[in-house]
Amino acid sequence: MNPPVSGLQDHPLAGAIQNLAELRLFMEHHVFAVWDFLLLAKALQHQLTRAPRSDQSCRLDGAIAVINRIVAEEESDQAPANPFGASRLSHLQIYLLAMQEVGASTSSIQQLMARLQGIETWALSGAELCAVLDGVAIPEPSRRFMAFTFQVIGSADALTMAVAFTHGRELLVPSLFQALLDRALIPPQRAPSLHWYLTRHIDLDGDDHGPGALAMVDELCHHSPFRLLIAQVMARRAVEARRQFWDGIHRSLTIPGQAPITV
Ligand SMILES: [Fe+2]
Repeated sequence: MNPPVSGLQDHPLAGAIQNLAELRLFMEHHVFAVWDFLLLAKALQHQLTRAPRSDQSCRLDGAIAVINRIVAEEESDQAPANPFGASRLSHLQIYLLAMQEVGASTSSIQQLMARLQGIETWALSGAELCAVLDGVAIPEPSRRFMAFTFQVIGSADALTMAVAFTHGRELLVPSLFQALLDRALIPPQRAPSLHWYLTRHIDLDGDDHGPGALAMVDELCHHSPFRLLIAQVMARRAVEARRQFWDGIHRSLTIPGQAPITV
């Protein structure tokens, strides 16, 4: 299926990030989307692979190969130089290093992750996942965006998750990251993890994950007009959730006093 016309390539968010303080504020919002992306990817992987398949006519081989490869890269990519000396890190870990490089606060996301230590998040309902956010200081746009992601995960439906993953995530991020990189707000020597993170996603999502995820959605539609219709509706919802997220961050950046952080 073709991606819905999003218009998000021209979103004013990247243009509103003009100095280091604004980059910090953006990263303190966006980190929650880095975190819940991993939750969504793993929930989708779990949905597609939770039982060994014995039915050889089950045609999900391409979708399973795509999500396994993406999760492997998200969780254990070849790491840039890092203070822990690890050769492989998750994209979330690298993003947290990037936040430290620019002086952004990681306290809220660390608090959130600590709450979920040892919990199988894919077994939780959307409401249970939302409840995890209670009491953690989170920017309102990020909270709303995660609520949408949790609703998608809570659906426990592979097609719904794959469409949100593809059309609300993989296909939209490269243009934003390219615009951020073009602004050259901080030199690569001062923020090597940030530059690695942005460049890696522009390359990986644009050339590999994006096309692979589109093929995954096509496979999950099984040539069914009904499933294709579901996918199209879901794709528009996922793009809209992303638009509202970026609109909210943009407001936080551009309207003084408009950065509500709720608990
Ligand atoms: Fe990706």
